[in-house]
Amino acid sequence: NKTHHINWCVRSEAVAPDGVMREMVLVNGEFPGPTIRAKRGDVLKIHVQNDLAAFNQSTSIHFHGLFQRGMNAMDGVPGVTQCGIPAGEDFCYVFDLTQSGTFWWHSHSRLQRIDGMFGGLIVYDPEEAYVLGRDYDEEIFIVLHDHYYDLGDANMNWYLSKESAGFEPVPNNVLINGQGVTECDRIPNRYSCKRGRPRLPKFQFERGRKYRLRILNASAFAEIDFSIDDHVLNIIEVDSTEVEEFSMHSIAISPGQRYSVIVEADSNFESVYMRANMQNTCFQYRPYGYRSDLSIVVEYSSSLTTAFTQMARLLFRRWMPPTGTLSSRWSDVLPPDECVDLDVVSLKPKIAVPAPEPDVRYVISPKTMQFDRMHLAPFAFVNRTSFLPAIGAPNLHVALGLVNASDTVPVPTVSGRQNTAHWGGDQLVTEIPLGNVVELIINNDDDSAHPFHLHGHDFAILRVYAETKAGIGKWRPEYVSSYVLDNPLRRDVVTIPKLGHAVIRFRADNPGVWAFHCHISWHLAAGMMMQFAVGVSTIDHSGVTNQMLEHCAMERDLGTKLL
Ligand code: C2O
Ligand code: CU
Repeated sequence: NKTHHINWCVRSEAVAPDGVMREMVLVNGEFPGPTIRAKRGDVLKIHVQNDLAAFNQSTSIHFHGLFQRGMNAMDGVPGVTQCGIPAGEDFCYVFDLTQSGTFWWHSHSRLQRIDGMFGGLIVYDPEEAYVLGRDYDEEIFIVLHDHYYDLGDANMNWYLSKESAGFEPVPNNVLINGQGVTECDRIPNRYSCKRGRPRLPKFQFERGRKYRLRILNASAFAEIDFSIDDHVLNIIEVDSTEVEEFSMHSIAISPGQRYSVIVEADSNFESVYMRANMQNTCFQYRPYGYRSDLSIVVEYSSSLTTAFTQMARLLFRRWMPPTGTLSSRWSDVLPPDECVDLDVVSLKPKIAVPAPEPDVRYVISPKTMQFDRMHLAPFAFVNRTSFLPAIGAPNLHVALGLVNASDTVPVPTVSGRQNTAHWGGDQLVTEIPLGNVVELIINNDDDSAHPFHLHGHDFAILRVYAETKAGIGKWRPEYVSSYVLDNPLRRDVVTIPKLGHAVIRFRADNPGVWAFHCHISWHLAAGMMMQFAVGVSTIDHSGVTNQMLEHCAMERDLGTKLL
């Protein structure tokens, strides 16, 4: 087993992913950030230097999808498992990889993720059902995401102001692997826009070969439909859960979700489009200069018979758009018009696990857009609490008795409701005895979807329901008979459709304080998060280093949140 020594420096830099110059928060100057490739059993040592002095922002890294079993302190969530790494300071994340599949990493601080601080994390395992070299010839990592021209903080301030009327900031563009196109004429001139031919990622297929595409939606807000004209996407992995092959021609992917698909390069066309379309039906308004789709060319290569075609394409590239079309072979399945995941009933895990019987059951209601009496601003809630952690006192440290939440600088509450337990701030922390199976019924009264992500565990999805009329989509007892119980899909992000609900279950077998939150950046930053404190008396102290405690002391000294 290998130990990977990785050195990351977090800095802000001006870059122009789609031609429009903006400040971004980058790891080692890369956008998207570096992709980590490792094997199950390997150890990652990731040394993070925070050079965000200009922003004076602390930072953090969360490894999305890793359970961090017994290593809650490495989960990278400010206010929950650590205090942010202050500007000018460093921190080393050390943990071993006990799972395999497609994961990713991102900052869990403020809006840094959507300012560019994310990347892929791929963990291989010879015991996987699909193995490189045997089941597929090549692997391609594809990151889709929405892109904004303004800093996350600026957009967030707008979102929290009365001006937004509660509408989320809408992305300006969609990118594939950090690149895209824009039309400068449509961009307000407060932005500097570079004219000329856009840089675009290039993919080449060799006829007859099989490709495994690992696709991630790293978006702040947008659900993205992904497709490749004239090619079938055979889904084999959903958020690191291997599933029985299931064919689609287009996949709707919510923020935080991943899919692996096997694609056979069997088209008769010389080139086709790979498409990423933001589901703009889920946006409540569209800003000036906005662009919601990106098509990039996938070329067939290295066949002797096409030498002439390739030459011609080189010469006449601009007049030879791809000839394959989406409809040439498919007319059956069309993506849903709403923000909903792929039908959970169709996706079956390879390793069948029946849904566990629940020990406890909670009903949860996420809610955006409530104008708080005190702040006159929209905040986001889970059961009328809006996440606002105590300063310098992450809940893991509170759980371990390293700090007393009441000793720290109090933070104002948004909901006016103080948590009854010893947890600080205005937050919902639910304590779960170790090993209990938790059933969550999540009712979504909002008219937009919420992709919810659970840390430290994955969960089985028993039911997802979308409704079009307000007020009638809540869970009802008679739905129990429609649960998928024999081999439900397990994943770590589930989209709760607008006006509908979802039912999930997980076995709380990982001691620690684990976040459960909407993965839409605006909702999360506005407080749409709760936590599960699992097996509090059995949480391991060893993960909490002195350096972590120092960072918290610095935060307390400053008396402000460094989140
Ligand atoms: Cu990918 Cu708590 O997030
Ligand atoms: Cu949300």
